[in-house]
Amino acid sequence: MERIDFFLELYGALPRAGPGDNASTGRAFSMMKGLPPTPTILDIGCGPGMQTVELLRLSGGTVVALDLLPQMIARVKEAAERAGSADRVETIQADMNEMAFEPASFDIVWSEGAIYFIGFEKGLEKVRQFVKPGGYVAVSEAVWLEPDPPEEVVEFWQAYPEIDTVESKLRVVSRLGYENVGHFVLPTSSWTELYYEPLANRVSKYEPEWKGIAEAEDVLAEARTELDMFAKYARYYSYAFFVMRKQS
Ligand SMILES: C[S@@+](CC[C@H](N)C(=O)[O-])C[C@H]1O[C@@H](n2cnc3c(N)ncnc32)[C@H](O)[C@@H]1O
Repeated sequence: MERIDFFLELYGALPRAGPGDNASTGRAFSMMKGLPPTPTILDIGCGPGMQTVELLRLSGGTVVALDLLPQMIARVKEAAERAGSADRVETIQADMNEMAFEPASFDIVWSEGAIYFIGFEKGLEKVRQFVKPGGYVAVSEAVWLEPDPPEEVVEFWQAYPEIDTVESKLRVVSRLGYENVGHFVLPTSSWTELYYEPLANRVSKYEPEWKGIAEAEDVLAEARTELDMFAKYARYYSYAFFVMRKQS
């Protein structure tokens, strides 16, 4: 097994592949006024598809769920089938950097914890062409909550240098010509309940089993660091949801 296989074994079965919860998905969705009765939605970096299924339920519309990993595409399909809404979801296994759709083909572009694979500004700029005039974009993105975070946590986040304050992210949204519709910081429970608690359980499960396998121990060590950072410094960072509208 290679490193990616251990990574997928550890993370691939979690309820979510990043912080979030259905209440936050619903809160962001409820900010979108004047949607058609059955909106068309693009969900970028859908992961296991918890928010995909929630969007299908909330909107009554259709979702194109896109992810790079075949394992995630399989999971989003299963999740939609379990929810009885498989007929309203189309899956695409693709790199979001390469994605191409007809201009103005979606009422909503959605991405929870994934737009950073293109970059916040670059990603928001790229997806604008796919949104109908007057349509919406909603993304969740890493943000600093407090000024002057301790050096240890700043160093940890250097792997993701785009983390910034909510105000800076909002300035990007405005600069790109979107209307800022609303934003909110995710609650701590959206990190723990569906992501870090199940992850910590899986770390404990695999620790004895993977002892002595260098690639596996490396994956476990990274997960432990991430969990430790959150335990120590959760008040300094989180994800925030940003909901914006393309001008008509
Ligand atoms: C942090 S997870 C978030 C998943 C899901 N939205 C959630 O909140 O549970 C990021 C997702 O983006 C996918 N991903 C990473 N790089 C990608 C790329 N270049 N193109 C498409 N998807 C990508 C990963 O496979 C993963 O499922």
